[in-house]
Amino acid sequence: MMSDSKCILKVDHLSVAYDDTVVLKDVSFQIEQGTMTAIVGPNGAGKSTLVKAMLGLVPLVEGTIELTLDTKTVSAYGGAKTNNIYNHIAYVPQTSAVDWDYPITVFEVVLMGTYRRLGWFKRPGKRERDEATKALQTVGMLDYAQRSISQLSGGQQQRVFLARALVENQEVYLLDEPFKGIDKTTESVLVKIMKEMQSAGKTLLIVHHNLQTLETYFDQVLCVNRRLVGMGPVRDIVGSHILDETYSY
Ligand SMILES: Nc1ncnc2c1ncn2[C@@H]1O[C@H](COP(=O)(O)OP(=O)(O)OP(=O)(O)O)[C@@H](O)[C@H]1O
Ligand SMILES: [Mg+2]
Repeated sequence: MMSDSKCILKVDHLSVAYDDTVVLKDVSFQIEQGTMTAIVGPNGAGKSTLVKAMLGLVPLVEGTIELTLDTKTVSAYGGAKTNNIYNHIAYVPQTSAVDWDYPITVFEVVLMGTYRRLGWFKRPGKRERDEATKALQTVGMLDYAQRSISQLSGGQQQRVFLARALVENQEVYLLDEPFKGIDKTTESVLVKIMKEMQSAGKTLLIVHHNLQTLETYFDQVLCVNRRLVGMGPVRDIVGSHILDETYSY
């Protein structure tokens, strides 16, 4: 990693619980700007919970999260009721977590990515519509723009959600299993786009299940199983005891 790299995301002693059950305990790590990080671990390990905690979608029991952007620093604290980190991170949720029966077109889904920037009372104009068109073109889904989102296949939906994240134009992107259930062609299209985002200085954290592709896709790996089992450059993690430990219950 470059020596002049800047820490963009700092998670310190983070613990998260649902009701009284602690599912993540004492997680601390730092992420440098412009890196692509895999979050790995078995089902139920707390990967999605970690992502949601970073977004402020689930309350923190303990710990802090600090996002250092070019223009400002945004923090979240354990015990606090509000957290506006959500407004500064683009998020692609795990597909199974989204209600696809919503009557909305592909184009509108992507256009929604501009709402936060516009504020809720301003309507998107030509500029936003052009951005949405361009993003749909990037992910190869422009032909489907007027189709209802519910009428797409899983892989097509994943492309559309990446397009929505692209128009958000944030510095940090959190993607929860973006490659789940998609074919090799779609996967390589998405990876290519992600690498381009990285080259443009974006920071990506991606929940990932396929350990075979860690080395080709990612710089570093966060190994999660109720706690942070380990973290490091891909070459240090792959083949190490840390992966075995992460996947043992
Ligand atoms: N809303 C919720 N309320 C209560 N418990 C939850 C909730 N969401 C998740 N959990 C529990 O928290 C733990 C971690 O769940 P999480 O979804 O973060 O796992 P994951 O690592 O993303 O798993 P997967 O690989 O299956 O997506 C699990 O035991 C799960 O049952
Ligand atoms: Mg998950």
